[in-house]
Amino acid sequence: MTEQKTTVLIPGRMHPRALERLNAAFDVVQTTAGAELDLPAETLEKIRGVATLNGMRAEWIDKLPNLDIISNFGVGYDGVDAKHAATKGVIVTNTPDVLNDEVADTTIGLLINTVRRLPVAETYLRAGRWEKEGPFALTPLSLKNRHVGLLGLGRIGLEIAKRLEPFKVKISYHTRTERKDVPYTYAASLMELATSVDTLISIIPATPETHKIINADVLAALGANGVFINVGRGTSVDEEALIDALKNKVIAAAGLDVFYDEPRVPSGLFDLDNACLLPHVASASVPTRNDMADLVVDNLVGWFRERKVLTPVPETPVKG
Ligand code: DGY
Repeated sequence: MTEQKTTVLIPGRMHPRALERLNAAFDVVQTTAGAELDLPAETLEKIRGVATLNGMRAEWIDKLPNLDIISNFGVGYDGVDAKHAATKGVIVTNTPDVLNDEVADTTIGLLINTVRRLPVAETYLRAGRWEKEGPFALTPLSLKNRHVGLLGLGRIGLEIAKRLEPFKVKISYHTRTERKDVPYTYAASLMELATSVDTLISIIPATPETHKIINADVLAALGANGVFINVGRGTSVDEEALIDALKNKVIAAAGLDVFYDEPRVPSGLFDLDNACLLPHVASASVPTRNDMADLVVDNLVGWFRERKVLTPVPETPVKG
């Protein structure tokens, strides 16, 4: 008799390595990307685990009476209703730490590209303009002597701060609670941080508290020499206010890897030559995404084999 495998649901797309490992270990039910969770009752009843790219709403959790665990691909799990999962005794896991270095490296790259306009300079060269028109224009901005403020100083924020140290910039930060274990200057509020620095890097998650907190007032406080970098979540920014601030030179430049309604990027940003735009790639290298994929699968395998998970989120209890 063949052993009955545990059923795991993948609502929509999944990283290929995770998919391959999940198919080997479980009976996988995968729905089409963007589709509703419209499966026969007997299939819904069989599902014990979920592997998701940040998409598991409360109604979907309610449809799965025997669900134990939701394993999210990504450190950010704002698309998974973890509070609701907690009320049902369902564990949620995410993929912290394995992406810290990649995201921090990309942040430094984005900061330098934004300040020194390197992607624009490369486009100039590739268009043959260097030879025809002469040297690329000097950049008005430089990283030298900047004062960088980190909004968020968790595991990724700390890696960004460490990488900034050799650049000899001043470093401040704002978090809800002051950290006693870092040499950086604490600002008690976002406004205090924006007022005191000229470069603001946001690395905060999407929560109701962070929704559109980077608004016109914060950008005005950052000032005309100000550079805003976002590698956290786009929902923490009032994008209309940001476009206005960039257009009217309220701040000097912005580098954005995340947007309010991805993958839709406001057309107003495309027209601005003081915005450096990336399609949410901070952790998107093959090695890092493979590590994230493995962690997604290891959390599920760990739970169903040994009742152990590696990286539960704080909202959810770990049974057993
Ligand atoms: C995450 O892990 O949340 C990053 O934004 C990459 O998707």
